[in-house]
Amino acid sequence: MCGIIGFVGREQAAPILLEGLRQMEYRGYDSAGVAVRSREKGLQVRKSKGRLQVLADLTRGGADLEGCLGIGHTRWATHGEPNDVNAHPHVSSDGRIALVHNGIIENYLEIKEQLLNHGVVFTSDTDTEVVAQLLEFHYKECGSMLEAVGRVLRRIEGSYAFGIICADYPNALIAARKDSPLILGFGENGNFIASDVTAILRHTRDVVYMSDGEIAVLTADSADVFNHEMDPVVKEHSHVDWDAAAAEKGGYPHFMFKEILEQPDAIQKTVAPRIRENRVVLDGFRLTAEEAKNISRIYMIACGSAYHAGIVGKYVWERLLRRPVEVALASEFRYSQPLVDSRTLVIAISQSGETLDTMAALREAKRLGGRTLAVCNVVGSSIAREADDVLYTWAGPEIAVATSKGYSTQLAALDLIGLYLADLLGTVSPAEYGEILTELQRLPDKMRQYLTDYAGAQYFASRYFNHDSIFFIGRNLDYAMGLEGSLKLKEISYIHSEAYASGELKHGTISLIEPGTLVVALGTHAALFDKAMSNVVEVKARGAEVLAVTTETHRERMAKTADAVLSVPETHPLLQPSLGIVPLQLFAYYVALQRGCDIDKPRNLAKSVTVE
Ligand code: AGP
Repeated sequence: MCGIIGFVGREQAAPILLEGLRQMEYRGYDSAGVAVRSREKGLQVRKSKGRLQVLADLTRGGADLEGCLGIGHTRWATHGEPNDVNAHPHVSSDGRIALVHNGIIENYLEIKEQLLNHGVVFTSDTDTEVVAQLLEFHYKECGSMLEAVGRVLRRIEGSYAFGIICADYPNALIAARKDSPLILGFGENGNFIASDVTAILRHTRDVVYMSDGEIAVLTADSADVFNHEMDPVVKEHSHVDWDAAAAEKGGYPHFMFKEILEQPDAIQKTVAPRIRENRVVLDGFRLTAEEAKNISRIYMIACGSAYHAGIVGKYVWERLLRRPVEVALASEFRYSQPLVDSRTLVIAISQSGETLDTMAALREAKRLGGRTLAVCNVVGSSIAREADDVLYTWAGPEIAVATSKGYSTQLAALDLIGLYLADLLGTVSPAEYGEILTELQRLPDKMRQYLTDYAGAQYFASRYFNHDSIFFIGRNLDYAMGLEGSLKLKEISYIHSEAYASGELKHGTISLIEPGTLVVALGTHAALFDKAMSNVVEVKARGAEVLAVTTETHRERMAKTADAVLSVPETHPLLQPSLGIVPLQLFAYYVALQRGCDIDKPRNLAKSVTVE
């Protein structure tokens, strides 16, 4: 998604802006730009299509732009193709107002028509430029920039995080947000706005999370926040605990590789603080035992890999809670008249906590009276703040667009909540509760054990990276895990791939299996291993090449039929996907490496999708 940074202070703004944009490159973008207010030259704007280095070269690392007030932007195109003209910042016709934007203005064409009728001349195809021109219109009308911003926000519809500077206000950095994230940061030499904390972590850990409808006016030494009625608002400051180095590659070739290897520690940090005296303790949870007993329906809502975590969670929770669990794509849930009432528990799963589809689905669930619970990795993120309860995954900053530790800590979080609720409901025996809890605590070491020897994943990637279509097949939890394995491969290697419930193959799709087709057969679910073996035989009979993933116990039997085998340690059946996913992540990583793909920033993708 787009990245926004702004600075007002006692240092040159341009180098700070460029560094902040570099820290947000992982979000995905196609162009970048900065605007800096100079005492002598007014607003200086530099923007360009392509990588951030082009902009840095254009401005000699920012040295060419003098001034201590500025805004910067990395654009992920929604309206208007990626080019220099459509890049942000956008500037009003009189050149006195510059604006950067993350989000979509849904009524921009109607407003553009009205401005065109007033003789306004547009230079770009973007919705954002319409806001810049509308700001000028209202500023000329009322003479106050803050009032003009208020009038603009009352006219536009859609999602936005804005950073605004005006040549007439040499010390003021203005920000506003609705649906798209925006934080305020408070440093020693000035104050910041940013789309996410990684952009300013080097300068400050003292932040404020803006809420929807709020407007902020920052100077070098002050910050005033107003609600949408322009009443002053007192905001709570938060301290960011993230380690700045954690948001760096640390010598690894790619963030994704680093984050795959970080998974044992990430799971340990997520699980350990929630277990005391062999009980799951979820501090701060406001859901009471009575409310839990009153739950008649459970939804899990999410997108992408978080949705796949929800599918695994469904199998685990239905087994533990003996209640139906429905997993819905957030983008479908919100338009499907979901059956939510006061007895419905809705779990919103989101690593970034800013995915707009998931946020909108969460709001729909709340509107219908549901009880909501978020599983998020970013403290203070919008979804975390809007849900009734939140369980944070302590995975640390996840920079690679393709999630790994974000997904595996979501599984761990769902395991914790599932055990917690099963205990409240009395639907799991003390023996099984204890066994699962013990195995949950052993997961990190078992994952470390596998990660001491992952050469197999690398070797098979070198054998299979040239396939142009790959099937993942599995049953039950193996199928759920296969969905994520398939997405990992697709999103970073660009190989077409599908995950299928093995039993479903014979109902049509097996017609696609022909000599040489690569099938990744998942057989880690012990109870269905014999079925998994049958499916391997079934596709082999049609000429498929089979790479199997199973447990160490079944490795030998699988090797008698499959062409290649990867195996992981055993754990409790309900936790097995947490281990089985690791060879699939590594297989995808090494295939993408062989194919020379941009692993951390795959084409067309963004780390946090804050548009519909
Ligand atoms: C995962 O590798 C993808 N980058 C994507 O599917 C992601 O899981 C999805 O966009 C949801 O993101 P969230 O967890 O931040 O809400």
